[in-house]
Amino acid sequence: MSQWLLEFKDVYYTYPGTNRPAIASLTLRLPIGKRIALIGQNGCGKTTLFLLANGLYKPQQGRICWKSDRINYNRQSLIQLRQQVGLVFQHPEQQLIASTVEEDISYGLCNLELDEKTIAQRIEQVLEEFGLTSLATKPIHQLSLGQKKRVSLADVMVLQPELLLLDEPTAYLDPLHTRQLAQLLQTIHANGTTILMATHDLDWVYRWADWVLVLDRGQLFLEGTPQDVFSKQEVMEKLQLGVPLAFELLSLIEEMEPQLSQSRTQDLVDAIAQLKNKIQQKLV
Ligand SMILES: Nc1ncnc2c1ncn2[C@@H]1O[C@H](COP(=O)(O)OP(=O)(O)OP(=O)(O)O)[C@@H](O)[C@H]1O
Ligand SMILES: [Mg+2]
Repeated sequence: MSQWLLEFKDVYYTYPGTNRPAIASLTLRLPIGKRIALIGQNGCGKTTLFLLANGLYKPQQGRICWKSDRINYNRQSLIQLRQQVGLVFQHPEQQLIASTVEEDISYGLCNLELDEKTIAQRIEQVLEEFGLTSLATKPIHQLSLGQKKRVSLADVMVLQPELLLLDEPTAYLDPLHTRQLAQLLQTIHANGTTILMATHDLDWVYRWADWVLVLDRGQLFLEGTPQDVFSKQEVMEKLQLGVPLAFELLSLIEEMEPQLSQSRTQDLVDAIAQLKNKIQQKLV
């Protein structure tokens, strides 16, 4: 079996009415079982890449393969692909369509030809896992943004996808809900789902990801472990992305204290992230 879940091979995508491709000559592979971060400036093509990845958009050139097979764009194949490649949109309004939480979560399951008992069990389990049981019958429009985001994630996870695509999931979340999201993602990943997350939060990337893809003007510019990618500080500055504060501080500390153990390093990264949250809270 291939060690790659999804592969883009020399893919181009240009939006109708525009003359510059949003995705250009894009070649990348997503390794199975990883926590992958997708970073890049506003407009570099992250969201477009996601929409291509689950077949909502079709490339004008190039190939996209799911587990070595080229994506087929007929209706039945797309339903199957979207069950395996779950996309959580940046804005819950783009995703939530039913009137209550429970109805919304059950929506995607109707396409899977499951019996009613299995459907009911899956919904109950997901409501519980995502802390949504008490909100099950609540109208979607009465939920807070953080709750809506949780429902969007539950909507996708109820289908038990192999690849989870998250478009800036921490945007507008407060520190408590960001931590809760981190815990949820930890469980989702531990249960075997590969995760690809677009984010501008480099400190999150540094703590969370085990592989990083850097996109620039629709192309893969750089990839590697967070350590490798952020070590290329000059390149990252040139792309106007910079490096995480925690990485910069740690590099300084390591210079001063070369004997620092791995576990102490991790403690420091966590402490720096908490400190940064506290500073941000004070600023708003
Ligand atoms: N519906 C659309 N019609 C025309 N052009 C679009 C459309 N959506 C996106 N684009 C263009 O495609 C390019 C890539 O946009 P995309 O939304 O994929 O970037 P992004 O990396 O997700 O940005 P951000 O970090 O701001 O979310 C941009 O130049 C954008 O202006
Ligand atoms: Mg985007």
